[in-house]
Amino acid sequence: FLVLLICIVMGYILGSIPFALVIGKVFYKTDIRQYGSGNLGGTNAGRVLGRNAGIAVIACDILKVVLAMGLASLQSEACSIWCGVACCLGHCYPVFAHFKGGKAVSTMFGFLVSLWLFTFHDISYALVPLGMFLVILYLFKYVSLASIASSISSCMYITAQILSLDLNNLMIILASWLMMFLIIYRHRSNIQKIMNATENKIKWM
Ligand code: G3P
Repeated sequence: FLVLLICIVMGYILGSIPFALVIGKVFYKTDIRQYGSGNLGGTNAGRVLGRNAGIAVIACDILKVVLAMGLASLQSEACSIWCGVACCLGHCYPVFAHFKGGKAVSTMFGFLVSLWLFTFHDISYALVPLGMFLVILYLFKYVSLASIASSISSCMYITAQILSLDLNNLMIILASWLMMFLIIYRHRSNIQKIMNATENKIKWM
């Protein structure tokens, strides 16, 4: 139990590193919390600082989860999964940025890449949600809507795969549902804006 707790704390601390803030301040002398949606994520970094900054933030946010879950997977599958969930929570509520962080989209992909690399060795866990993300983004041009749809598809895919293959892994199903609810909850203001037709459409893709 102590090892699991250490992995969860490590996940939360690594997840708390606000790369959108760090990259914005170090390379662009800009605090992106003051601009755009104010969100500490790759989309807002791309919106405010440009495409390269957006890509760098997304890559770092994915990698921090892969690193955390990779280290925790040396202990056990449970350590890796709950470390990943803690990492996503740290990203949304970072101890290093007054608990105001991002919306867990890149970190969800970090979680899915880690499921592929360390748990199931099956890339479809990352590709199905990525495909859904790209299709919805292409059709509607809203990153937020694509993110929500992607999190729902990821959760449904994981649940269906685990139940149909009889993998007997309710823990991962539970983690994926938590991730989906976290992402939908963090996109409350985006959902409101989509309904009011005031949500930003993507320009830098
Ligand atoms: O990465 C989060 C994205 O889905 C929405 O971000 O800045 O448009 O609220 P933003």
